[in-house]
Amino acid sequence: MRRTVIIGTGSYAPDNIISNDDIAKLVDTSDEWISSRTGIKERRISSKDTTTDMAYEAAKAAIKNADINPEDIDLIICATITPDYFMPSAACMVQGRLKVDGAAAFDLNAACTGFVYALVTASQFIETGMYNKALVIGVDAISKILDWEDRSTCVLFGDGAGAVVLSASEAGDNKGIITSILSSDGSKHSILQCEALPISNPYVVPAAQSMQDMGFNKKSSVIRMEGQEVFKYAVRNVSALIKEAILRADLRAEDISCIISHQANSRIIEAVAKNCNIPSSKFFMNLDRYGNTSSASIGIALDEASRAGSLSKGDKVILVGFGGGMTSGAVVLDWS
Ligand code: ACO
Repeated sequence: MRRTVIIGTGSYAPDNIISNDDIAKLVDTSDEWISSRTGIKERRISSKDTTTDMAYEAAKAAIKNADINPEDIDLIICATITPDYFMPSAACMVQGRLKVDGAAAFDLNAACTGFVYALVTASQFIETGMYNKALVIGVDAISKILDWEDRSTCVLFGDGAGAVVLSASEAGDNKGIITSILSSDGSKHSILQCEALPISNPYVVPAAQSMQDMGFNKKSSVIRMEGQEVFKYAVRNVSALIKEAILRADLRAEDISCIISHQANSRIIEAVAKNCNIPSSKFFMNLDRYGNTSSASIGIALDEASRAGSLSKGDKVILVGFGGGMTSGAVVLDWS
């Protein structure tokens, strides 16, 4: 059976670094509160880069790292909840800039699990033989959907993009994606959400009244979160996913060299490590420097881990995420 192998990684983050002390000038918070509750010290907040800009830069880096021609790519999937346009998709915008004529390109929304969902989706096309080379991007300019007056959310996030290039494994080669799991629970959709546009046309009640009736206010398109509920969901589901993924891959916990989790909160990662009986030192963390970059976090972390030499050939690596929806997912890889 064909397997999907990651042959290149890339990432990009805006150069505008915002420290916890900087955020404390906007809302009533402190470096002590943010660091101790989340592990975050600073994040990148775009002052000019669009979602497409960041996705393009990460994609370019991944293609260079894979050492392929952009024309070899026949599928582009972009995971994002903050595209520049409702249409065209961010994937098509990137395709246009890369000049990858003819490739299939579309966006996918699984919130902070988007990178894992996109990776698994692309791998299905590769494993069936429909496509041979895919570009997967996770990107969010999450700063544009933050309520910068809400200290319970605006301190947590940052902007950025991560990308991988995927290829089919050689015949008989056991490298690449060993197994994957995707899951969701729509009954919990209200614990983490960002509203889109309400119905508004000449045939419904006047727009302003309609929006009020539906509970929308002028800050409707911003992230609202029940922090403690999200925390509990994350610890429970990510722990269960890691255990299930290890079982499905026919491995033991001690066989896993590195876990690259969605980077939301160091306390979540530490609780998951304890639940899974895996040393927290095996969980790669860079959220101190980026905060929670939503769809981008796993792609950025994977690129940094790879470039830092934290991943060696043959290592068994787990990518695991959770996010709005609620969604969650995991992939077990034989790193090549
Ligand atoms: N600075 C100072 N005080 C704050 C801040 C802040 N930035 N935010 C909230 N507080 C206050 C609250 O008002 C509250 O004050 P009170 O006791 O006077 O009422 C107090 O701190 C405690 O608030 P809690 O919400 O109970 O704080 P908690 O310990 O739960 O930590 C946090 C909040 C960090 C958000 C935590 O719930 C969490 O990590 N949740 C997980 C959610 C997460 O990581 N989300 C990221 C996005 S989800 C995703 O990526 C898919």
